[in-house]
Amino acid sequence: MSRIKIFDTTLRDGEQSPGVNLNQLEKLEIARQLERFGADRIEAGFPASSKGDFNAVKAIADTVRGTSVTGLARSVKSDIDTSWEALKGAEEPCLHVFIATSPIHMKYKLKKTAQEVVDTAVSMVSYAKQRFPQIEWSAEDASRSDREFLAYIIEKVIDAGATVINLPDTVGYSTPQEFGSLFKYIKETVPNIDRVDLSCHCHNDLGMAVANSLAAVENGATQVEGTINGIGERAGNAALEEVAVALKIRSDFYPYETGIKLDEIKRTSDLVSKLTGMYVQANKAIIGRNAFAHESGIHQDGVLKHAETYEIITPAMVGVTSNTLFLGKHSGRHAFKDKVKDLGYDLSEEKLKEAFDLFKQLTDRKKEVTDEDLFSILTEVQTET
Ligand code: KIV
Ligand code: ZN
Repeated sequence: MSRIKIFDTTLRDGEQSPGVNLNQLEKLEIARQLERFGADRIEAGFPASSKGDFNAVKAIADTVRGTSVTGLARSVKSDIDTSWEALKGAEEPCLHVFIATSPIHMKYKLKKTAQEVVDTAVSMVSYAKQRFPQIEWSAEDASRSDREFLAYIIEKVIDAGATVINLPDTVGYSTPQEFGSLFKYIKETVPNIDRVDLSCHCHNDLGMAVANSLAAVENGATQVEGTINGIGERAGNAALEEVAVALKIRSDFYPYETGIKLDEIKRTSDLVSKLTGMYVQANKAIIGRNAFAHESGIHQDGVLKHAETYEIITPAMVGVTSNTLFLGKHSGRHAFKDKVKDLGYDLSEEKLKEAFDLFKQLTDRKKEVTDEDLFSILTEVQTET
């Protein structure tokens, strides 16, 4: 099975979520957890963006071992120099340098011709190569770039020394079919592409970041970039926990493995959520509060008979202690009986029916029935003569 590398950018693109600001200690704590999670590469930050980020990247590069540490730089010498100072203590310093390649970015943002962009990219990769053994080069807005131009510039930066080529769907505009075909085209067209890692980096503006990442993998990507809980600019980045679990659960369809320790997912997600202050939506795939909760009587009955009737992932696989049978108006007798037993009550069939009727009446008035509600119902039926 071929191995897909996981590049975590929670500490860089993830931190670009509006309102998120991590201090050095918080970044270090997340980086250590990302190491336990099994990320192959951690993008620790953007050293030239602020003194604080420089210090945080440096602290991570000097401490984290066993996971490659990288930092982002624009295609300017001063960013590369600053990044070197921050990253030189890493086990294997890696620079992530980018430049935009789409017509709209080149014309309006960079105000450069396509040839000037090629020249800048090549000269900055060559400059960085004097110090960095590993260089990831990103074609910002790759999904809206001209494919022939993209193939041409990629060939040149590989010749200049890039070791990873990253194609971002910067504005989350692509579709799985289109993004997959871009990777296929680059794989088939660029000489020497097999000498480097080919990476995808998807944003979630149309809710397709994970699907686009999987399409890239199917078409030759050897690295997937993303963040924990999918946090990031605007609608966020591809959620790495979703990518890793999808590759595992559908290995019949995706014959690839990752180094991710799936049972570290919940702990990693909780830590990122706590330190960034971005809490996870209840129905979020894999780690949302409701991801392993069942409310309807039919589902609860099925799960109690055999969990796989309605669960494709075991909670334990992703580090969640157990599933929950949510007691609400759709719940049935089977789940209710189980819960009563869990609470330590042993009721006759008649008392159980009485308690179930009271519970159903309560669900018409209350969305979620708590253990306290159940205790008062059970006490009531038990004390009746
Ligand atoms: O989304 C993007 O294009 C980026 C680049 C800086 C890699 O985050
Ligand atoms: Zn991005």
